[in-house]
Amino acid sequence: MESAKVIETLGLRKTFRDFWRRPVVEAVKGLDFSVRQGEVFGLLGPNGSGKSTTIKMLLGLLHPTAGEIRVLGAAPSDTRVKARIGYLPEVSHLHPFLTPRETLMYYASLFGMSHGVAARRTAELLTMVDLAHAADRAVGRFSKGMARRVGVAQALVNAPELLILDEPTSGLDPLGCREVKDLVRLLARNGVTVLMTSHLLADVEDVCDRVAILDRGVLRAEGQIADLLRKPDAVRFLVEGLSEEEASALRRELEARAGCRVQQDFPAMSLEAFFLQVVAQDGRLRTFEMAPFLQAEHVPGKGPA
Ligand SMILES: Nc1ncnc2c1ncn2[C@@H]1O[C@H](COP(=O)(O)OP(=O)(O)OP(=O)(O)O)[C@@H](O)[C@H]1O
Ligand SMILES: [Mg+2]
Repeated sequence: MESAKVIETLGLRKTFRDFWRRPVVEAVKGLDFSVRQGEVFGLLGPNGSGKSTTIKMLLGLLHPTAGEIRVLGAAPSDTRVKARIGYLPEVSHLHPFLTPRETLMYYASLFGMSHGVAARRTAELLTMVDLAHAADRAVGRFSKGMARRVGVAQALVNAPELLILDEPTSGLDPLGCREVKDLVRLLARNGVTVLMTSHLLADVEDVCDRVAILDRGVLRAEGQIADLLRKPDAVRFLVEGLSEEEASALRRELEARAGCRVQQDFPAMSLEAFFLQVVAQDGRLRTFEMAPFLQAEHVPGKGPA
């Protein structure tokens, strides 16, 4: 059985108008896509292709010019639905004089959590995003990566069922990127649906199940990453433990059998894998566990029915 659609758009359009209501930019031009429960969905596209505009319409922050949107089975304007969504904006507007702890406590209070629950959740989130050591320093002086991590924690305050991340890895170093990606996969394994945008295609390839590519407001491609990237008429074998001579002999044999040229290369690890091997030897790359607070029954009004 296919899982439920968490996001569905039909003919979604957004035309920005000027003061005199003249159309200025057609940012999104008839977008149809859906995201299923537990999926990690990547929205890709060049600068100005309409990704953030689409996200803002899904969140009810912008009103579509035309088309339909269902998010968690309701219209984006439905406030009950907003409480079940976590959002990391492209640029987080953090109050520079507040500490991460105060920031998270504030958001927790907006979701109606008691002081005790909010304090526990804040502490666990700060540990999760590796900011416990800086929990009581003003965020105004934070590095880009630290500020981004406060934003990620903030998006998780309400144990969301749907997490919308606009460029979550921007400003993060490779270690931070890897951790955000691991966190996203962990959340997805626990049933959280994730919609994210990113310009770092390697990150998207690592973490997303399905992607859509937008270009000037139009959907140009959409599908499972493995299907989109598969070369339909090629096959690759990976053989370990052969000497160069043995490898060449095997290639010649294959060529004779197949009747065509066979390419031979020595697979390299990704630069990310190499970088992490160099800098994360001492166990600096943390592995995450699903903290109990991220399970929905701990959020007021979201317990099991
Ligand atoms: N509030 C606005 N008023 C007028 N035009 C806007 C507004 N917001 C976005 N646009 C325009 O809509 C288009 C799409 O912008 P959007 O921010 O959605 O792109 P994006 O895909 O998120 O780009 P990026 O990768 O740079 O974040 C752009 O041409 C942008 O200038
Ligand atoms: Mg954007």
